Amino acid sequence: KTPCQMMIARTLEELRAAREALGPVGFVPTMGALHEGHLTLVSAAKAAGLPVAASIFVNPTQFGPNEDFARYPRDEKGDLDKLEAAGCALIWLPTPEIMYPPHSATTITVGGPALKWEGASRPGHFSGVATVVAKLFGQVRPEAAYFGEKDWQQVQVVSRMVEDLALPVRVVPVPIVRETGGLALSSRNRYLSEPERKAAPALYAALSHAAQEIVAGKEVAATLHDARHSLSKAGMVPDYVALVHAHTLEPLEGFARPARLIAAAKLGAVRLLDNVPVG
Ligand code: PAJ
Repeated sequence: KTPCQMMIARTLEELRAAREALGPVGFVPTMGALHEGHLTLVSAAKAAGLPVAASIFVNPTQFGPNEDFARYPRDEKGDLDKLEAAGCALIWLPTPEIMYPPHSATTITVGGPALKWEGASRPGHFSGVATVVAKLFGQVRPEAAYFGEKDWQQVQVVSRMVEDLALPVRVVPVPIVRETGGLALSSRNRYLSEPERKAAPALYAALSHAAQEIVAGKEVAATLHDARHSLSKAGMVPDYVALVHAHTLEPLEGFARPARLIAAAKLGAVRLLDNVPVG
């Protein structure tokens, strides 16, 4: 099969023309600095049989004032090469002016699954995510959109929004891609020093161990305490380690399905995020 040319849209007019040429698409929204975790979303979308559209937009409204928006990694050329090799049909590269024109005055407020954990640690983050994702859905009008389970809470927030606003898109969660040692791939992993890289797999190890203990019937509070302790021993500063309802993100005092173990921890300057299924 001869590969066809990947289309690149930088204006709404170009996007509209490309979308008309393609018909229904699967959509992969990203902030770039792409790695295998992002590319697995493209593979999942391709496997569903539709042409794949991806977006690259480092969304300012989901970063807090003291977060890394300015130094978030950017590599447009490298990203486009990777998306082309992965078989993407269309790349949407909007500017901040296109996404947030001066007269724009509407944002999405999120409750429910957005309130705790990342939502509590990063005020405004999920409102920024929901707003940009809703706009991207409106621009790209995909049949299905693919999100990584790496950001478990994000997938629940987006799914909730899609249902609540009756948006005509299917949200498809895709399993986490990890390094051999278990560390979940992340664009921010490049900021880990060599010793931090060696310590980082302790997060997945602690979560996997805790999930086994909980399924085996060990008390939840004690298990979470032990998990936090092992993160501290590995040199991390745990933000939260929690057993939650997989979709509402409400904390569970005892094991009940569907459950997810979620965690965030600072390792040096990098905030690591991970989660595992339980049972
Ligand atoms: P970004 O961090 O670039 O991630 C884009 C998508 O890739 C997200 O759905 C994320 O969960 C997924 N992803 C990242 N690392 C992964 C891994 N190791 N395994 C599987 N999937 C992985 O998430 C965002 O961008 C933004 O919030 C966005 C949704 C684009 C809105 O701005």
